Amino acid sequence: MIWDYVLLLSWVCTVYGKEGYFWHISDVHYDPNYSIQGSPDGKCWGTKGSSDVGRVRLNDRMPPAGVYGHYGCDSPWSLVQSAAKAMEAKRADGIEFVLWTGDALSRRESASTTRRLHHLKNITELLSRTFTGQFVFPVLGHEDIGLNLSQVAHLWRNWLPDEALTTLRENGYYTIEQRSKRYQIIALNTNVWLSAESLLESRAPSQRATGSGASLGARVAAVTTGTDPENQWQWFRSVLDKARKKGKTVYIVGHTPPGIDDREAGTGVLTEEHNRRYLQIVRQYADMIRGQFFGHWHSDTFRIVYSDDGEPVSWIMVSPSITPYRQGGPNNPGLRLYKFDNNTGQILDYAQYYLNLAEANSNKQANWRLEYNLREYYNLGEITALSLHDLADRFTQPRENAFVRYYGANRVSLAREVEEIWGCGGALNGLCALRHYCAVTRLEARSYATCVASYAEALASSKASATLGSRPVLLAVFLLSLVAMMPR
Ligand SMILES: *[C@@H]1O[C@H](CO)[C@@H](O)[C@H](O)[C@H]1NC(C)=O
Ligand SMILES: *[C@@H]1O[C@H](CO)[C@@H](O)[C@H](O)[C@H]1NC(C)=O
Ligand SMILES: *[C@@H]1O[C@H](CO)[C@@H](O)[C@H](O)[C@H]1NC(C)=O
Ligand SMILES: *[C@@H]1O[C@H](CO)[C@@H](O)[C@H](O)[C@H]1NC(C)=O
Repeated sequence: MIWDYVLLLSWVCTVYGKEGYFWHISDVHYDPNYSIQGSPDGKCWGTKGSSDVGRVRLNDRMPPAGVYGHYGCDSPWSLVQSAAKAMEAKRADGIEFVLWTGDALSRRESASTTRRLHHLKNITELLSRTFTGQFVFPVLGHEDIGLNLSQVAHLWRNWLPDEALTTLRENGYYTIEQRSKRYQIIALNTNVWLSAESLLESRAPSQRATGSGASLGARVAAVTTGTDPENQWQWFRSVLDKARKKGKTVYIVGHTPPGIDDREAGTGVLTEEHNRRYLQIVRQYADMIRGQFFGHWHSDTFRIVYSDDGEPVSWIMVSPSITPYRQGGPNNPGLRLYKFDNNTGQILDYAQYYLNLAEANSNKQANWRLEYNLREYYNLGEITALSLHDLADRFTQPRENAFVRYYGANRVSLAREVEEIWGCGGALNGLCALRHYCAVTRLEARSYATCVASYAEALASSKASATLGSRPVLLAVFLLSLVAMMPR
């Protein structure tokens, strides 16, 4: 009798406990005008002379431009193509779907919307050829604003069901409900929750001065006014309520995550009000959220959402970009492959792949490699809000090397000599490390600022006195000691 149950149980496990995979790609920032001959001061294009103030200031130590791109430039087609090839080679079968979290286009490209749509089509077609048997679920990033959503929906018509195409066309968001699956995908249009200023800041000053930047700001200001732009809050809640009634779990997917940027001096990008509302919803529906997947920051990082009582209740994963370029410092291109329970949606692990751009350029060959597996890398038993909270906690413990590992991954294993031009690396200081820790655990501007300020004070005083014992002081001492621990 008992064996019947055992057999039944193992049958249930095989049928319902299947492991599936999905890719997460983000921030392609395809720049069709990239040129190896592009002057360092000329937007990476073949043109000379135009000063490009938005660019990372180049440095003698910076590896030269190559066929796969440059740390100071957005993605050339060869890089985009190599990423697609790598995904095809790494795991062609067993992929259930692909999440594609926006910013397909380059901010440098002030081309007409017709041309921009063409470039989006180029990438769409490439992904369609790469994933012939799978669906790609794309969301819009702020670099994709201004495209005609009817035309965008038309490009993505083979991936999305009719109801999804309808809401995408009208409002830029959609949900994918699969009858045979317990998990449901909610694809948000985070563009309508951005502050107009943050959007303009993200653009090169040269573009801000031109019509393209200004009209973009105006467009965003137009859609983001009102308390519920595009009725997205109302829609979001009703989708979650319906999913709850049906006993479904959900993945939330979007371009711009809530919270604070870990790489730049702690700015958020969603308006404070929308950020707050987002976190409120996550707290309320945390029991049914199996994952939140975002891009935008070009960083490999994560966030923890806490309940009002301070319990870790949900997590957010932020995947690094395909483009190596970012204002404020580059990273190597990255691709992420998640392993999950095909039925419940429970995330089991992920494999982070990356391209060492400098090496690829010098070998003239793009060798995408495994960077790390999440659970093994951080020694996690499982992936939950609690285990990630414990991980962040380990950032503050001197005997652990968790922060050093996190920091290596944060810029996707960027070589030290490139990293130190911008990052914590060159002047790895406690404050920089502290910002990362606070960004991971504090998702609101005020609590983030308090976190940085309180520990920073301890950091300063710990240099003078040795009053150890309190946690902030221990953290501070640890952060200072990181300088010695960073791998060179
Ligand atoms: C996941 O489930 C779908 C049906 O819901 C099935 O077609 C697919 O083969 C499953 N994948 C794996 C890896 O078990
Ligand atoms: C970018 O390249 C296209 C040709 O591919 C060209 O028509 C266009 O003028 C270029 N744009 C700039 C600003 O150089
Ligand atoms: C992008 O699409 C256009 C028109 O559809 C085509 O002419 C061009 O060759 C494509 N570019 C790439 C890199 O595939
Ligand atoms: C968007 O594209 C559709 C289909 O091509 C067209 O009918 C519509 O007029 C366009 N909308 C705008 C605002 O250009």
